[in-house]
Parts: sequence; structure tokens; C-alpha cells
Amino acid sequence: MDQYAVVGNPIEHSKSPLIHALFAEQTGQQLEYGKLLAPLDGFEASVRDFLRTGLGVNVTVPFKEQAWALVDAHSAAAERAGAVNTILRREDGSLLGDNTDGKGLVRDIQVNAGLSLDGLNVLLVGAGGAARGVIQPLLAAGPAHLCVINRTVSKAEELAALFVDQGPIAAAGLQWLVEPVDLIINATSASLAGDVPPIPDSLIKPGHTWCYDMMYSSGETAFNQWAREHGAARCIDGLGMLVEQAAEAFALWRGVRPDTAPVLARLRQA
Ligand code: ATR
Repeated sequence: MDQYAVVGNPIEHSKSPLIHALFAEQTGQQLEYGKLLAPLDGFEASVRDFLRTGLGVNVTVPFKEQAWALVDAHSAAAERAGAVNTILRREDGSLLGDNTDGKGLVRDIQVNAGLSLDGLNVLLVGAGGAARGVIQPLLAAGPAHLCVINRTVSKAEELAALFVDQGPIAAAGLQWLVEPVDLIINATSASLAGDVPPIPDSLIKPGHTWCYDMMYSSGETAFNQWAREHGAARCIDGLGMLVEQAAEAFALWRGVRPDTAPVLARLRQA
């Protein structure tokens, strides 16, 4: 049977095997999708070993940049992102790297939540790998303006400079902007520690501003709690993005895009 896996460290709690099993069942595809724990200093060996017989892997924390360096060719999205979350072994044995995180985020916002990004004023909080991975697809969705704000301002400036040819992007410090925006996306890792990046409450216009935390947890994330308490019109967590980026990977591997709605509903139940 065709073999796929998600590789990371840690990997125990990954939801990807369940998501891909549900996709396979729904689309009638015959495949197995497992978890692969790579040693922190042994990512490349683990992946190459798996892909001797396996057809593809998803890559998660902390290996997405190493995956970018490992593959033979990059999709346009991966090239810009500097990180790879999906590897496909092609018929000639070469490895193609894609990054489906940004597509997943944009699809979750636009299709699942129904908010068109066209013409919006968007704030992206954070300037690490997670932020970099989503900027190009965000700009392609046509916002009026995308501002990357970060605790370390120089990192936000570096990111904005990398994508300046792709659309209206700028950089600022966490506290520099105070006027309300249409959408705030949290791409910091602060939620992992239950923290909220210290950004002004006035960025939220009650009843208007949408907030999106790229993280998810079993309960409400700290960022979404902050957003709700300040009157955000909608607070969305990253579970939909997780399912959508998986659907993009599945489509790359299998040539068929699954219906994500029932899979997301199933995960929300669990
Ligand atoms: P990832 O791959 O998840 O993006 P990363 O590259 O380490 O991880 O980046 C983490 C991001 O979260 C950075 O933008 C970081 O800000 P700095 O660049 O100033 O370090 C941000 N971050 C993490 N904890 C934060 C906190 N408590 N408040 C504000 N920003 C935080």
C-alpha cells in the first residue's frame, strides 16, 4: 500500500494521521499514513530512509527549514516561504517540496469562515517561520495592506523586505500601530506558553475586527480569549488551517482534493 507519514519532534500528538485517514476513506484512496519521530539531529536520514519506499511526507516542527534544504526542487510557495511542509517523491526519485500552510490559512479564512481578504487592512503578528510561510498567499488574496508587526522589529522589517514585490506590505513594532484593523492574525509562538503578544487593545474595533490565531488547543487560545474579551467580531483558531493545509498536501500526492468540512467537524467533536 502507498505509504505517507508526518515527521517531526515531538510527533505523538499530531492529528495528521487521523486527518489523512479520513481523507482517504472519503475519497476511496488506498494509502497508509503514519507518524515518524525523527531525532533532532537526524531529520535527513529519517526522511530519506522513509522515502525509499514511501511516496511522501508532511514535515512539522522543528524541521520545516531543514526540509527546504533537503528537497531537489521547490514549488513557488515553498521557495518564498523558505520552509517545506510537504514532500512528494516523484517518479524519477527526486523530491519536490511544497508549503501548503499559507494556502490552508487563506482557504480557512476565505472559504470556511467566509471573509474575503480583498481590500482588507490586515495585521500579521510575528515574524518567525510560521509568519514567513503564509505571507505570499496572504498578499495574493489582495488585501489593501498587510503589516507585519513583531517584538523584534528588525525581523519584521526583514520579512517585509523579502515580500515587497508581492504586494502592499510593511513592518512595525508590536505597539506602534493603534488604529483598528479588519483582521489580526497571530503567527507568534506566544500561545504555546499561554501568552498573548502585547499589542494595543485599540487594534480591535468591537463588532468589526476579526481575529485568527494560527495556533489551536483543546480550549480557547490565549490570543482568542484576549480578542473575544475586547469585542472581536469573530475569533478563529488554527484547526481549520491544519485541515486545509493537509487537504492541499493530499491533493498534491493523490490528485484529488478532499471535502474538508466533515473532517473539520469530526476533529471539533473529538
Ligand atoms: P515559529 O516557527 O513558530 O514562527 P519562531 O521562528 O521561533 O517560531 O518565531 C516565533 C515568533 O513568535 C517570533 O515572531 C517571536 O518574536 P521575536 O522575533 O521577537 O522573538 C514571537 N513571540 C514568541 N513569544 C512571544 C511573546 N511572548 N510575545 C511576543 N512575541 C512572541
